[in-house]
Amino acid sequence: MDTIPHVPVLLAPVMQALDPARCRIVVDATYGRGGHASAIMKLLDELAELVLIDRDAEAVEHARLHWGRLENVHVIHGPFSCIGRELERRGMHGRVDAILFDFGLSSAQLDQPRRGFSFRHDGPLDMRMDNGRGQTAREWIEEVCESELARALREFGEERFSRRIARAIKQEIREGGLHTTGDLARVVCASVPGTERHKHPATRTFQAIRIAVNGELEEIERVLPMALDALVPGGRLAVISFHSLEDRLVKRFFRFQEKGDPYPPDLPVPASMLKPRLEPLGRPVRPDASEVAVNPRARSAVLRVARKVAREAS
Ligand SMILES: C[S@@+](CC[C@H](N)C(=O)[O-])C[C@H]1O[C@@H](n2cnc3c(N)ncnc32)[C@H](O)[C@@H]1O
Repeated sequence: MDTIPHVPVLLAPVMQALDPARCRIVVDATYGRGGHASAIMKLLDELAELVLIDRDAEAVEHARLHWGRLENVHVIHGPFSCIGRELERRGMHGRVDAILFDFGLSSAQLDQPRRGFSFRHDGPLDMRMDNGRGQTAREWIEEVCESELARALREFGEERFSRRIARAIKQEIREGGLHTTGDLARVVCASVPGTERHKHPATRTFQAIRIAVNGELEEIERVLPMALDALVPGGRLAVISFHSLEDRLVKRFFRFQEKGDPYPPDLPVPASMLKPRLEPLGRPVRPDASEVAVNPRARSAVLRVARKVAREAS
């Protein structure tokens, strides 16, 4: 197994938000390399339970190796959208005090060329978080048509040159090329002007293909309501996003649940009838300059925290 550490992002505000010392059940739904989980574990009462989820087999192996012997730690291999079912099975549903999501990739995934996530190292064109199932990036690129590829680059990568890049990628794959991340980076670089300073021209393409291959945004949309249902009244939800597409989904979900039932805006509904299910805890938190200096990957992170309202009106 790899030994690449993952420096946990926004550790102090996450711990403050979750407040593990007061919890009976905590879920870390994106274990990674256990940076947040081990900090949680240090503060957790010995009778409290910790649920660790990751869809990446290597992350799960890491979790089992470190925590698998402990009876109060439950390690789950799967997408976090299995959270409802898995918590039901363990009799924990509706009783969870705190849930953490730290979206995106771990350093271990990004920095291992064989995982195929990085345009900085040459590796197979894979990009699956769970590399035991589903299509690899290459298989996905081969299957989608050019316009669908362009749409993914535009929507998931916010790529201005999506059509040009999609055309070049599809042509390369038809000609029998495009086997490695290096091939993909080269094709992208050759088809765009590369005008953004401090940004590799393939950054957006890699992000878009990775999001598509792993169904990342669908996963987030599915899991947020499940996580809210799984919390005990008063329980806390802490979510770290790394780009605007993720953060937009989180922000929209939090706002919707903080507002309560969606009555038409012109209906004079008293606030007591709105039944909000979440209340915000503080403002969104971003890393300060000292954290970014030590961990440049933290620079785009944003943490949002909310609490399930203590008494949901019936
Ligand atoms: C940024 S890392 C988490 C790092 C972790 N908080 C730590 O401190 O080590 C994100 C992790 O979440 C996992 N992940 C991302 N999306 C997932 C999903 N839909 N279901 C389960 N795990 C997911 C990835 O495999 C990766 O290991």
